This record gives sequence, structure tokens and C-alpha cells, in this order.
Amino acid sequence: MSDLYSDPLGTAVLAAAKIAEITGKPKHDVALVMGSGWMPATDALGKPTHEFPVTDVPGFPAPTVVGHGGLIRSYEIDGANGKIQALVFLGRTHLYEGKGLEPVVHGARTAVKAGCKVIVLTNACGGINRDYKVGQPVLIRDHISMTATSPLIGADFVDLTDLYSKRIRELIKREDPSLAEGVYVHWRGPAYETPAEINMLRTVGADLVGMSTVPEAIAAHALGAEVLGISLVTNAAAGVTGEKLSHTEVMEAGKAAAGRMGELLAKVLKQL
Ligand code: HPA
Repeated sequence: MSDLYSDPLGTAVLAAAKIAEITGKPKHDVALVMGSGWMPATDALGKPTHEFPVTDVPGFPAPTVVGHGGLIRSYEIDGANGKIQALVFLGRTHLYEGKGLEPVVHGARTAVKAGCKVIVLTNACGGINRDYKVGQPVLIRDHISMTATSPLIGADFVDLTDLYSKRIRELIKREDPSLAEGVYVHWRGPAYETPAEINMLRTVGADLVGMSTVPEAIAAHALGAEVLGISLVTNAAAGVTGEKLSHTEVMEAGKAAAGRMGELLAKVLKQL
């Protein structure tokens, strides 16, 4: 029996096989990982064909954070070029949970092993860029990792020049030309940043800050998938307005923006 920590890719293959068995679908085409507050956005995708707890699938730990669902859904969507089988992860594991990076990237690896050529990673984040408003979605153009860790082990010298697919960003901007693009910082957390840290991050070229997405993007890209990252600005980053940060505020902003997000995602999926 393979184990997530000793054989992460083997466990992803087992997980993909289990998902195929549960859904009766030998292959999925695209995966979405829904971040904090993004769950209501899935309403726009219609009714799922299947829904099951992540813990039914090898390698997934039970969720521990409020608002991070711990469910997997399968959808069949009418696309521009035929039916699309979409795998949706409601909730994710974060680095700050202290379980290491393997569970953090297991969903992304499982999705690629299940056949997904495109992985859409969504998240809630703090806006460092002063032009951003709360409730605004921002496409991730690039990232800065402040965690000094990687899901890749060994001499896996993966190129990250086009990590956040330019092709898909262009596609989605055709649907919504008002969408901004920004540089996302991966912060380990669970404490939010200090105002001084936010000033530092702005100085080095960051627009957004959050505690997810980057390891999953690297893991999926390393396995050959195209990645789209969308951040929802749920609060101004520490020190930007002087307001204190709270997880409740983050969840509320997510709910408020869900409609627009869902419609956008549904439109993009149809074209992939
Ligand atoms: N910082 C880090 N992560 C976050 C934030 C933030 O301000 N908001 C939502 N997730």
C-alpha cells in the first residue's frame, strides 16, 4: 500500500483511479480548486453528477479549517467543443496546517492523474496593490514564494516562466476585459502579515498575498497541466487601511462576490 508521504505520485494515481470508480468517468478534463468563500461560485456550474467527501479518496486528510469544505464534486458541462468533465475540490489543505506539502498538492496531482489538462486554482487574498477593491477578482500573472519550500523533491528543475498560462489568461480577459492581473505572494501563515511585511512585499513587486495556490500551481505545472490562478481580494492587506484582519471578513467578502465569480468560471470552462 503506497503512502502519501513515501510515494506522493503513486498515491495520486490511486486517488485518480478511485475518483474514476466513484464517478464512472474514466477521465476528467479540467479541475477547479475552490478557495475560502468560493464555494457559492459553484452554483453557476449547475448540478454536479457526483459529490463525495475527500476522505473517500486515498491520500486526502480530513479538512480542519472553517469554510474549507472537504468535498469533491464531478460536473458535466456543455462546452463549445462538446461535453467537459470537471472535477471540483471544495476546500484544500494549507501549508500552515503543519502536515507538510504532500497533502497541500495532492488534489492538484490527483486531478492531473485523473486526466485534467487544465487546473483552475482560486483563493481568497489580501490586496497589497492600493488600486484593488474588496470583492475584486484578480488573475494571477506570476508569483513570489515567501515560504522557502517546494513540493518538488530532487533534481526536478522545472521552468516556471509561463506558470500561470498566458493562453488561458487571454481567454478569460476576452470574456471580461476589466479583469486585473497581479503578482501573488505565498505567505505561510497562519498569522496574517504585519504592516511592515506588506510594505516589504509591495516594494518587491507583489500585488496580492495569500496562504495557498503556489505549491499546487508548481505541482500541476510540473506534471504538464496548464494553470489558471484567480484571487478574490477579500480584504485590504495589513496596514493598507488600518483595519484589523479577520477570517470572518474574508469569508463574507467571498460570499458577496460569488455570483460574479461563478458566472466567470462557467464561461471560461466552456471554452477550455
Ligand atoms: N493575507 C494572507 N492571506 C489572506 C489574506 C491576507 O490579507 N486575506 C485572505 N487570505
